[in-house]
Amino acid sequence: MKTQLQDYPLTNTTITLGTGQVELTLIDEPDWYLDKLSREDSEGKLYLPYWTYLWESSIALARHVEKLGTRLEDTHVLEIGCGFGLTGIVACQAGAQVVFTDVERDALHFAERNTAQNGVRQNANFVQMDWNTPCLNYEFPYILAADVIYEEPDWTPIVALLQNYLAPNGIALFSEPNRSNSLGFFKLIRDNGFTYQKSTCPVTLDGKTAEVCIYTVQRASVKSD
Ligand SMILES: C[S@@+](CC[C@H](N)C(=O)[O-])C[C@H]1O[C@@H](n2cnc3c(N)ncnc32)[C@H](O)[C@@H]1O
Repeated sequence: MKTQLQDYPLTNTTITLGTGQVELTLIDEPDWYLDKLSREDSEGKLYLPYWTYLWESSIALARHVEKLGTRLEDTHVLEIGCGFGLTGIVACQAGAQVVFTDVERDALHFAERNTAQNGVRQNANFVQMDWNTPCLNYEFPYILAADVIYEEPDWTPIVALLQNYLAPNGIALFSEPNRSNSLGFFKLIRDNGFTYQKSTCPVTLDGKTAEVCIYTVQRASVKSD
């Protein structure tokens, strides 16, 4: 995929993890793009380009993924709603092969550039994919999902994606900033044959500290270690 980022003002940032770090190219002043790229679909539903921001949930999940370390070596990982690609990059650094997906082509351009900038481009593939109409034909031992469950209409397709793409003993890792509606998503997860464990991770971004929740999701038929 050819990167075409010249339409955006760029900025660089370093994300510090437990032991490692990731260098990211991001969009400078994403608030401006929120206005410019917002649109309504044919049914009048407002679309907001959330991919133009780096979210604290991705930092928390990246720290969690880093701790998995060698468990990720030579495994296949799917990231949904990858945005700038931070979490998947950390999986690549641990030796995983990662399929980065997002509905937004430009998000994937940034994710690709960021994999290259961190020396892990060879561990990465990029697929423009809407989780309502997933287009892959294999299962993954790990699925990563940072801040993708904020809107209720997305919950059923995301659960269906887990049912179809999570390997029988696989682990899906979700992160979200402790929104009250997330309870509904995890009830749906339970109702559909999955279990989860929850932990929290404080993240400071742009001077504000948020408590991010991390959920480790598995099929209920699998005993966790
Ligand atoms: C809040 S952002 C989170 C981005 C990134 N994971 C992070 O935490 O920084 C949500 C992401 O989901 C993507 N997204 C939204 N709707 C989607 C859909 N239907 N299918 C796939 N990706 C979608 C957006 O483009 C965006 O990158």
